[in-house]
Order: sequence, then structure tokens, then C-alpha cells
Amino acid sequence: MPDFEVVGSQGPWLHCAGGTRIFDGSSGLLCANVGQSSPKVRDRIEEQFFRYSFGGAAVVRPHIQLELMDRLCRAVGRPDDSVALTTCGTLGVEVAVSLARNITRVRHGKRRGDILTSTLSYHGNSALTLALAGNHARRPRPEDALGLGPAFPAPYPPTHAHEGRGCDASCAGEIAKEIDSRGAENVAAVLIEPVNGSTGGAFVPPDGYLQRVSEVCRERDVLVVHDEVLTGLWRTGTPLASHHWEGCEPDVVILSKGLGAGYTGVGAVLVSPEIAPWIRHEDADPLPAMGTMATHPLMAAACLGVLDELESIDFAAFTARGERLGEAMKSLNGVGPVRDVRGLGFLYGVELTPGQLWPVMKAAEERGVFFYPFTGAGEPKSEGLVVAPPLTSTDDDIEFLITALPDALAAVG
Ligand SMILES: Cc1ncc(COP(=O)(O)O)c(C=O)c1O
Repeated sequence: MPDFEVVGSQGPWLHCAGGTRIFDGSSGLLCANVGQSSPKVRDRIEEQFFRYSFGGAAVVRPHIQLELMDRLCRAVGRPDDSVALTTCGTLGVEVAVSLARNITRVRHGKRRGDILTSTLSYHGNSALTLALAGNHARRPRPEDALGLGPAFPAPYPPTHAHEGRGCDASCAGEIAKEIDSRGAENVAAVLIEPVNGSTGGAFVPPDGYLQRVSEVCRERDVLVVHDEVLTGLWRTGTPLASHHWEGCEPDVVILSKGLGAGYTGVGAVLVSPEIAPWIRHEDADPLPAMGTMATHPLMAAACLGVLDELESIDFAAFTARGERLGEAMKSLNGVGPVRDVRGLGFLYGVELTPGQLWPVMKAAEERGVFFYPFTGAGEPKSEGLVVAPPLTSTDDDIEFLITALPDALAAVG
């Protein structure tokens, strides 16, 4: 694949040397959710830059970080949560793991702090998160996996064998079985992507599944941690992906990509008011330490600019655009090399016949649009495109995308 020589940008469009432009059909690495060159983000960074660029939370009162935490919690409908900021999604997951272990140890007297993940999951690229998650392509060698690994099958047919039937809410029973076999006193949390991101290509769980996961965990004093690094902040059409279903609010939620929106690295760990007080309990272990840059004022400023952008979206028009995109994507099912399409809002996986991914990517680029490739579930591994345009795309932008992609598919045949 060629690299584009980008000389400018505007919203979802990259302007290349030579006068061509290319549409960002995947929001960069599924993060540039409010497009490029945002004046709102620039203004926030500029204002903070001239106030001060580094304070250190223990030295300077972190006004801007507190403003961000408050704004973020309200934006995702969790106004009473406590927040820890980090520099990226991976560190957000690491902090969430440590907090879950601390909380369940002091609250429920857990003996071990096992974290259960699914066979089709990605939670970051640190040694711990790679060892925990199920992403085949990125798993460490067995001898380097810290004795860890995914613990339950993801509720999607390519990864979960059923005698002749598809997945449904009862697949959460696999989690109950796993907790019971380890002993609930040894399990701190279930860590799960409520809608699968790039590993399998936007698989959506069966109705009732996430609610059943929450019930199974509650019955066993195990916390539910939702990794919404990729899906959070309207990627799937709602503030959190879990908002598509009733009764599955997590104890802890991790946000990242859509918050920094490609302008800054950031992670945010939101902890519910029911469990946050345990972090400060006199018998609790020390907090997982914040890194030097975890609460950087310019990072917080950029994120506030992103929230300014998100909150100025006309949500009725946004929802209609997401529906238009979804209908167009789902109509591709069975067309040429397309084997399956799934997704929600502004996030779709278009699975292709093996061997067709790179020809389709090339044909799409020749038509002025690029996507994010996935290789993930099943045996042999499935492959396809993640289609995830910026959330600020206009009607014309979406029309362009949903015309260019079928053209590219037809060219490959
Ligand atoms: C679901 C999920 N969790 C965690 C991460 C890690 O985030 P980061 O790359 O910012 O460290 C990613 C990144 O792709 C992700 O998709």
C-alpha cells in the first residue's frame, strides 16, 4: 500500500501532494472521530498553552483536568463517576485492572485478582494486556504470556461452537462456568468490549447478552469492566456502545480513542459511585500511580475541544446519517467478495472472501477512500474492512463513501 503524501486536511478529507484528496473511511486508526484541523480543538489548546503548558497535579490545582472529567462523565451519562486519566487506551485498561483488583480485594476479600477476557478481544499492547486478551495475531508466545490468556468464548458464531444454532444471551453462561471453576473468590473482573472493535470486525453481541453478563458477575461479586476505548463517545451512534441495551451498565468503563480523537493520546477510566469509595478505604492497596504525563493540561485542553465538537453535532441528522450508512453497508452483504456485514452507528465490519482484502483496499484507494483492515475470527482467519468514517462527516461525505466502496468491490469482482 502506498503512503499518502499529505499536505493538508479538512474534516474527514486528507489533501495530498499533486492536488488529489482522499476520504478517511476509518477515522485514521478508528480515532479521528471529529475529523482533522478542528478550530475548536485548536482554540482550546492555544488558550491553555498561553496559560501554562505543564503544572503537575500535585503542584498546580488541575482546573482543566477537573473540567474535563466533569464534562466527560456528563457526556456519557455517568455524572457521578470518579475518573482517572492516562496517556492512552492501553494504560487505561491497565489502570482499570489495578483498580478492579484493589476494589474487590478490600470490598469482597478476594484472594486473587483474575481478570477474564474473551477469545476475540484486544485490550492494548502492553505485556499484561496482550497476555490477557484473545487477539490471535498479537498474542505473545506461550512462555511469555505471564500464565494468562482469554477465558471465555466471544458470543459470535466464528468463535463459539454451538450445535446448529447461533449465539444468544445464554452464551453468558460460559462466563458463569469459568468464574465458578476458578472460584469467585479468585476473580476480580470480567473485561469486555461491549461491541467488538478491530479484532473481529465490529461484531455486535446478541440481544440480552451484556445484561446477562452483568447479572452473572453481580451474582458472584465480580466487577464488569467495559473497554470502550474504540466504541466510546458516539462511535456506535450512542455515547457508550452499552447504551444500545438495557441493564448492562458497567462498574468501570475505559474511554480513549474518541476522546483524544487523534489530536492527543489519552485514556479515561470511569468508576461508578457505588464502588469508587472503596479505592480510598483505609485497607485498600495504594492507587495505581499516575504517570508523569497522565493529566497533561494540553491533553485535557485538546479533549475539551473534542467534546466541544461532539456536542455541537446535530444528533438527529447524525443518527439519520448513521442509519443511511448502515443500510448501505448491510446491502453489500453477498455482493462480490463480501461474505458478511455487521455493525452499528458509524462502525461496520465488511468481511471479505479470504485473499480479497488488499485488492479491495487498493481499488478503494484508487477511488479516493481508505479503510482499516481487520484479520480476526475463525479458522481460517476472517478478513475485511472496518468502515468507520468521522462522526462529523456530512451527508455528501457519506454519499461519497457509500458510492466508492461498492465501485471498489465491483472492480475486484
Ligand atoms: C478495544 C481496545 N482497547 C484498547 C486499545 C489500546 O489503546 P491504545 O492503542 O490507545 O493504547 C485499543 C486500540 O486499538 C482497542 O481497540
